[in-house]
Amino acid sequence: MHVTALIVAAGSGTRMGGDLPKQYARIGGKAVLAHAVDALLSHSKIDAVRVVIGEGQEDIAREALEWRDVGDFIIGGATRNESTRNGLAAVETSHVLVHDAARPFCPPEVIDRLVETLDGDAVAVVPVLAVADTMARLDDGGLGEAVSRDGLVKVQTPQGFRTEQLLDVLEQSDLAGAAATDEASVIRAAGLPVVTVEGHAKLEKLTTPADWARAAREMEQDMV
Ligand code: C5P
Repeated sequence: MHVTALIVAAGSGTRMGGDLPKQYARIGGKAVLAHAVDALLSHSKIDAVRVVIGEGQEDIAREALEWRDVGDFIIGGATRNESTRNGLAAVETSHVLVHDAARPFCPPEVIDRLVETLDGDAVAVVPVLAVADTMARLDDGGLGEAVSRDGLVKVQTPQGFRTEQLLDVLEQSDLAGAAATDEASVIRAAGLPVVTVEGHAKLEKLTTPADWARAAREMEQDMV
């Protein structure tokens, strides 16, 4: 079995504020995208890493990744589904791990779990994390009804798939999948099974400036 890690980094990252897409901003002097690439490139079970970037981002992506061996950049699209499909067309291995560029830290044990599950012939596998906070809906700007957190999980990336099957499903579910925020939900919507493995707190996605500050603090603590 051979595995490519496909990092999708073609989003505009506008929720973070600032004019630089969040994947190119730096933590500890290194771009978020470079952190993500290093975590995957350094894992022995991953044969290649490819990166999907937005149109016109070639220079900034090259500057962020410096010497790292990720082959030619792939240009993404207006939706996550389109970006992933473009990337998959350049994947040459039987299996793929699709990863958000906005998740800079990916512990090796999570990759072990994902690859092991794919090797056991799973169609799709995702890391999940139990929800610890109280969950509720917003109601006219105030607090609405509480939602039971029993059985609720946060779905993270990298998400593992058989490359050709994922491409087929994404192509067939173009309209339904256009609004999907990950690949596993499209696979699930197509009626295929998705296995879960334990995720990791360090895999949390950077979305707001507060996430950013937390990630920088955690990285400093890890370096002590
Ligand atoms: O916006 P959000 O945080 O959900 O994006 C998740 C990941 O998907 C990010 O790494 C982003 O760069 C990527 N993405 C993409 N192409 C899009 C939209 C998002 O590659 N059109």
